[in-house]
Amino acid sequence: MKVIMLGAPGAGKGTQAKQIADKYSIPHISTGDIFRANIKNGTELGKKAKTYMDQGLLVPDELVVELVADRIQQDDCKNGFVLDGFPRTIPQAEALDAALENINEKMDYAIDVDVPDENIINRMSGRRACLNCGATYHIVSIPTKVEGICDRCGSPVVLRDDDKPETVKRRLEVYHEQTQPLINYYKKQDILRTVNGVQPMEDVFKSIVEILGA
Ligand code: AP5
Repeated sequence: MKVIMLGAPGAGKGTQAKQIADKYSIPHISTGDIFRANIKNGTELGKKAKTYMDQGLLVPDELVVELVADRIQQDDCKNGFVLDGFPRTIPQAEALDAALENINEKMDYAIDVDVPDENIINRMSGRRACLNCGATYHIVSIPTKVEGICDRCGSPVVLRDDDKPETVKRRLEVYHEQTQPLINYYKKQDILRTVNGVQPMEDVFKSIVEILGA
């Protein structure tokens, strides 16, 4: 099963993608997590990506397309994968289609987690992320057991640099300009499914399972 998670920053793509990956035993591929790991490790890719991410801008297509095209051809992707944060532009979507066509495959579903902008700012200011293992929390809806410490790996959890309100505002603008057109792109391919992202996380997941099958 090959699934794309669409939605605004903070819509809950990552939260849902992790559960999809667990339930269907497929890898969760998050381009944001890949960039953050590169930033943490001080790689050249990380240094380049950080200059864009800190401003709430997209990393240029050429830095991300090849990375994902290689990743989805690895052995653990044979039974499918869930893409979180990719594609984010029409050229990325076209490059993904071309990479899959080369191996006679195509995407099965693009799931749009629909959350209005008004809800996003609140969610982002409360989000805490573990930069070590990628787990995410929310200070009100999913707090860590010990304040400030990741339940999963014991590292500190932090407010991401790009979750500051002024950067979130820019990310939302970028989303509307560059990523939202993908909704029509996948509608035309007849693989778009929309779920209401403004409901408890368990209910969002139930709606997704109804689409993907139990
Ligand atoms: P990325 O990490 O992909 O960020 P994003 O798309 O902006 O998405 P987020 O991770 O912020 O949010 P999410 O939708 O996963 O929400 P989450 O589940 O955490 O990318 C970061 C940056 O990297 C980009 O800005 C860009 O610069 C660069 N980048 C990445 N991919 C790229 C690409 N392909 N091309 C170019 N550049 C790229 O949930 C958010 C919060 O809400 C959490 O606290 C969560 O607990 C809470 N929450 C979740 N669901 C619910 C619910 N139902 N009710 C209440 N709270 C909820």
